[in-house]
Amino acid sequence: MLNEYNVGVLGATGAVGQEMLNCLVERGFPFKTVKALASERSAGTKIDFDGGEIVVERVGPDSFKGLDLAIFSAGAKASAEYAPIAAKSGCPVIDNSSNWRMDPRVPLIIPEVNPGALKRHKGIIANPNCSTIQMLVALKPIYDAVGIKRIVVATYQSVSGSGYKGIEELADQSRNLLSGQDAVNSVYPHRVAFNCLPHIDVFLDNGYTKEEMKMANETVKIFDDQNVKVSATCVRVPVFFGHSEAIWIETGRPISPDAARELLNRAPGILVVDDPKANRYPLASESVSRDEVFVGRLRADPSCENGLAMWVVADNVRKGAATNAVEIAELMIRDPQLMKTDWTD
Ligand code: A2P
Repeated sequence: MLNEYNVGVLGATGAVGQEMLNCLVERGFPFKTVKALASERSAGTKIDFDGGEIVVERVGPDSFKGLDLAIFSAGAKASAEYAPIAAKSGCPVIDNSSNWRMDPRVPLIIPEVNPGALKRHKGIIANPNCSTIQMLVALKPIYDAVGIKRIVVATYQSVSGSGYKGIEELADQSRNLLSGQDAVNSVYPHRVAFNCLPHIDVFLDNGYTKEEMKMANETVKIFDDQNVKVSATCVRVPVFFGHSEAIWIETGRPISPDAARELLNRAPGILVVDDPKANRYPLASESVSRDEVFVGRLRADPSCENGLAMWVVADNVRKGAATNAVEIAELMIRDPQLMKTDWTD
């Protein structure tokens, strides 16, 4: 394939943005140029890219002229402002923020799960929440085979989900506490070092957090199934990279753990690591810098009819964000129709 695409990355200095740049190079994305965009805070700084350096530009209304595609990971506010500007100037946007995910005009895409929904995009395509992505990659083969009525999930989410500031807060607090000093918290409402916080994003009136409701609502949208019910508890844990999830499902028809394991073994994007007698199960530490979703601890859940339990792990910055976005871009460039925009406010 010719290197013919001018690509913009908004949020290029962030934890996910940096990984997006890595993914573009590592996966051999056929870019001609890559424009690194961020806020005025880092405009003018140089970042490493593809063996050289690129200078970060401050994003503005004219940033997207001449770009064929843009990938955003700069938070909901910047996405709300700049995604429509880009789309209207003919540059489709793959957006990693939560801002557009539930907008009916915007498809919410996991390439292994619902690539067909890309067809109805108008210029903005949303990348799901990191916890939703790894859960649905793991559940899709089972959903297709026997249906899923109910999902209960508890997450163990790493601090890189909060960007570099989360990583720094855990590092600083750990260092301080181990040297007998006080831990200061500014990113999280409590100390995250040597702790578990059952609180990600803001609390809503129904008692769930917004992160937990993202997992529920995004699942319904991606499976395009109003009948699948989800109850999530999202927990921030003192891990730098890799989200882990304990998942319990109730399937529509019976499926044995062995049959489920067999399905998952053949599914794209999944690596089954399930040999508990040899202490082999998915680990956050082993998921780092990997693009696969790791599944293990598959077993029957005796607490309900047709119940299955499992442990699912992925690098939240890679498959949970950057890789998924670049995979969407790879699907788009295969079909010229998907590179067109038709966005109106
Ligand atoms: P900047 O370096 O200029 O602050 P992280 O998720 O690691 O915190 O990174 C967030 C990324 O989003 C950074 O690249 C940051 O750029 C960028 N960003 C945040 N807010 C804006 C904004 N309003 N406009 C453009 N880029 C933004």
